[in-house]
Amino acid sequence: MDHISVAIDGPAGAGKSTIAKKCASKLNYIYVDTGAMYRAITYKALQLKIDINDDSKYYFIDNTPIQLTTDDKVWIDGEDVTKQIRERDVTNSVSIVSSKQSVREKIVPMQRAMAYNSDIIMDGRDIGTNVLKDATVKIYLTASVEERAKRRYNELIIKNPNVSINYDEIKAEIIKRDHLDTTRKLNPLVKAHDAIEVDTSLLTIDEVVDTIIGIILGKVNSNGTNI
Ligand code: DC
Repeated sequence: MDHISVAIDGPAGAGKSTIAKKCASKLNYIYVDTGAMYRAITYKALQLKIDINDDSKYYFIDNTPIQLTTDDKVWIDGEDVTKQIRERDVTNSVSIVSSKQSVREKIVPMQRAMAYNSDIIMDGRDIGTNVLKDATVKIYLTASVEERAKRRYNELIIKNPNVSINYDEIKAEIIKRDHLDTTRKLNPLVKAHDAIEVDTSLLTIDEVVDTIIGIILGKVNSNGTNI
């Protein structure tokens, strides 16, 4: 039996990882957060203090094991960096790091290998257009910039109750990341022609999860694939 693969792409803050994780758990598929892999590389690049704009400085990736474990932890060089990769310094540099050819040419094959043996839901920017072009189901998850900035702002306030956080700054950072992710040369964020768009601006998490599970099961059943 072929494995089922679900690609969920979309801009920062559209809710991809929350939704993908819940759908994967309900369907008993493996969840792969590809953004976390670029974040882990960014974390290490910042630790090493390399010039992140210089494509020739990423040779360290060859000797850098990255692991995503089923308890949603992210490891690099055997270090649990789950928390660190969500910090603002990583978040604000990851669009640059992930635009580098030397990074993508090493990370994308790792992602394809992860989809080889299991039913999976993979989220990112280029899953439906590049990593898993033949995915069983492709979803393009989006939301307005204002809604995405509001979600990030609330997330940061909860995580850092004592730090002053400015909504306009968060919104500007999201706009900047959207711009970098959609205009970069290599595998930019773009809706695949065969992706189904789901706008989450006015939906609850449960509503989005139900919508996407409906789409997945509809497609899987119409293909006659057993799940
Ligand atoms: O989904 P996220 O915010 O954790 O992603 C972090 C960055 O990684 C994002 O700015 C774009 C990049 N990314 C990518 O280029 N390709 C992917 N498949 C996933 C993420």
